[in-house]
Amino acid sequence: MKNIKAIIFDAYGTLFDVNSAAEKCKDKIGSKWESFANYWRTTQLEYTWLRSLMNRHKDFWQITEDSLNKSMKAFKIEASMKNELLNLYKVLSPFEEVPEVLKSLKEKNYKLGILSNGTPALLYELIESNNLKNIFDDVFSIEEVGIYKPNSKVYDMPIKKYNIQKSEVAFLSANTWDVSGGGNYGYSSIWVNRNNNIFDNLDYKPNNEIKNLKQLLDIV
Ligand code: LAC
Repeated sequence: MKNIKAIIFDAYGTLFDVNSAAEKCKDKIGSKWESFANYWRTTQLEYTWLRSLMNRHKDFWQITEDSLNKSMKAFKIEASMKNELLNLYKVLSPFEEVPEVLKSLKEKNYKLGILSNGTPALLYELIESNNLKNIFDDVFSIEEVGIYKPNSKVYDMPIKKYNIQKSEVAFLSANTWDVSGGGNYGYSSIWVNRNNNIFDNLDYKPNNEIKNLKQLLDIV
């Protein structure tokens, strides 16, 4: 990848493991913990898209709780677990290689940013609880534009802030639809395909595909 000036990361699922909250409760939830975690995540994302289409915004924390309520009912999980799961969602673990890779990128000459559906408070808490302070130049939250990904107003934020070309942004996401969103917008995209997934058919194929963030160091 040439002429990259900013490296922008999606947060949930890309830097931070969204399944780690349910995984930390797997003794209590039992073997269905992973199907439950996937259902919760899918419902959460559906609510972001549906609320954007309905023009009825609620922030990501409220959506996380609303989708958890439905998921707990669907999987018959005891109501007493709700606060524990929500508190764990605030301190999701990063994927293993993430802290080390971010620290080595910091030594290079790129703007480093997060661009996420999360609220600023949620994102700063994730950064702090995982000792990632002083890494990012900017944390762009969709709360600034009031509509969720993949609306182009979201992807506009780093371009306006840094006054650079769309193709000068290397945008990384593990979420295929977010790669399509950023890529259709004009970013140079990198799909973080940790689990050998299949890409979407949304008029876009990623410029690069990596298995984890370590491979990013070979690309930029
Ligand atoms: C985010 C969601 C898409 O962090 O994972 O924006």
